[in-house]
Order: sequence, then structure tokens, then C-alpha cells
Amino acid sequence: MYSTILPELMSITVFILTLLCLQAGHTSTYMPNYSILSLNTTGLKDAYYTSTQADLPIHDIYNLYMMTTCSGYWSSNSSPPLEDVTCSPVSWYSKFSPSSLLLNDLQTHHSPTNLTSLSFPQGIQDAFDQRFNLQLHVAFIFYIIALFWLGIVILWGLITCWWGVLGSFAVLFVSSASTSLLIASAITTAVQSQAVALINDEGGAIGLQAGYNNRFLALTWSAFAVNSLSGLVWGVAGFCSGLVRGSEF
Ligand SMILES: *[C@@H]1O[C@H](CO)[C@@H](O)[C@H](O)[C@H]1NC(C)=O
Ligand SMILES: *[C@@H]1O[C@H](CO)[C@@H](O)[C@H](O)[C@H]1NC(C)=O
Ligand SMILES: *[C@@H]1O[C@H](CO)[C@@H](O)[C@H](O)[C@H]1NC(C)=O
Repeated sequence: MYSTILPELMSITVFILTLLCLQAGHTSTYMPNYSILSLNTTGLKDAYYTSTQADLPIHDIYNLYMMTTCSGYWSSNSSPPLEDVTCSPVSWYSKFSPSSLLLNDLQTHHSPTNLTSLSFPQGIQDAFDQRFNLQLHVAFIFYIIALFWLGIVILWGLITCWWGVLGSFAVLFVSSASTSLLIASAITTAVQSQAVALINDEGGAIGLQAGYNNRFLALTWSAFAVNSLSGLVWGVAGFCSGLVRGSEF
């Protein structure tokens, strides 16, 4: 019975880590550093100011999260932390749309400037429309599938406190969760590096800069790692309690 406590705790940890991947950015103050990528417009704003002597009324930073997009302004000297951060409503299919975000800001401030006059590269928007948003949505679905299997593992673990030998079955559910987490993590990792490279490649000329820190990656890959490890522990726990019971009866 006690042998299932450790793997049970591990599975609960993985469940929470996976949930955090999806919940980052739900509000402006909730895990703001765990974005998939950040779009920094400081360079574009500086260039605009140099050529027109007027401020370009757009946000300094647009952060992409699994279920939202948040935008904010640097507090001073174009450096972190961010202030006046606003986030889009939480969505099951969150689409990152740089050109709409910029255009929306310009229109809100009644700016005569438009994306054409900023020479905003259409290729960036097209790449998100055609693949990145969809790929992230597929990753999102695999996170949900992982949560489903983890939920089953956790419930199963509670049951197997009484029937220890059933712990072995948990390995099957844990493997399904591991596969889902592997796919979701691989997709977000690939989209992250490809999208950042594309934005810097096509937007660098007008002063757009994209980047990411490693926190989201650390979160999603540690969920996968702990889950894989828990599979082993579940297996050993089921095997041991089976032996104990075998000798009892
Ligand atoms: C991370 O987020 C916190 C707020 O939760 C902020 O105070 C801190 O400066 C951020 N760190 C970095 C490196 O951006
Ligand atoms: C934002 O971009 C500007 C210029 O493109 C750069 O100097 C600045 O360091 C960037 N800020 C961050 C936090 O990456
Ligand atoms: C964008 O602005 C330029 C001038 O800044 C103007 O000539 C052009 O018609 C505008 N385009 C649209 C689609 O509004």
C-alpha cells in the first residue's frame, strides 16, 4: 500500500506542471515569464521616432502563451519589468496574430500609420496563420490528452492503495501520458525556435525582435521527464506490492 505513495505524488506533480504550461499568462501577473515567445518592438518604435519625431502607439512587447497573448510596456529605459500588461481572453484555440495586434493598437490610438507604411512583413503573419497557430493548437490538444491520462493515473493510484498489484496497470496510462507530453513538448519546442528565427529574419530589418527564455521549455520537458520516471516507479511499486501480497496469501 505504501509503495504507491511515491509514484502517486510524482503523477500529481506532473499533472500540476502540465496544467501550469497551459495556465501561464492567464492573467497579466500569472507566470508572465513563461511565454512561448516574446515579440519586442522597441527597435521599430525607435526607428519610427527617429524618422517622424512622433511616438508609434503600439506596445513594446507582445507575449505568446499557450492559451493567451499578453501585451505590455517597458517600465523605463526599454527594460523589464513590464507594466500596463493586458491579456487576451483565455481561449482553447489561441491564435497569435502580430499584424492584428499592431493594427489594433494603431487604430485604438487613432494613428494615421498603418502596417503598409511600417513595411510590416506579411510573411510573419502568414506563417502564424498557415502553420504556427495550428501546430500550437495540436500541442494544446496533446497537453489536454496528457492531463486526461494523468487524471486516470491519479485516480487509479488511489484505488491501488487497497489493491497494490493493480499498480502495474498504471504503467499503461503513464506511458500514454508520456507519449502525449513528448509530442506536445516537441511541437512547442520546434514552433518556438522556428517562429523566433522567422520573425528575426523577416522583421529584423524594420526593428522587430523576437526571443524566448528557457522557462517554458524547462516546465514542459520536466513534466515529460518526471512522468517518464514515474512510469518506472509505478512499475516497481506494482511489482513489489504484488510480491508482498503473494506471500501474504
Ligand atoms: C519574472 O517575473 C517576475 C514577476 O512575476 C518579475 O518580477 C521578474 O523580473 C521576471 N524576471 C525576468 C527575468 O523577466
Ligand atoms: C528589445 O529590442 C531592443 C532593440 O531591438 C533591444 O535593444 C532590447 O535589448 C530588447 N529588449 C529585450 C528585453 O530583449
Ligand atoms: C497606409 O498609409 C499610407 C500613407 O501612410 C497610405 O498611402 C495608404 O493608403 C494606407 N493604406 C491603407 C490600407 O490604409
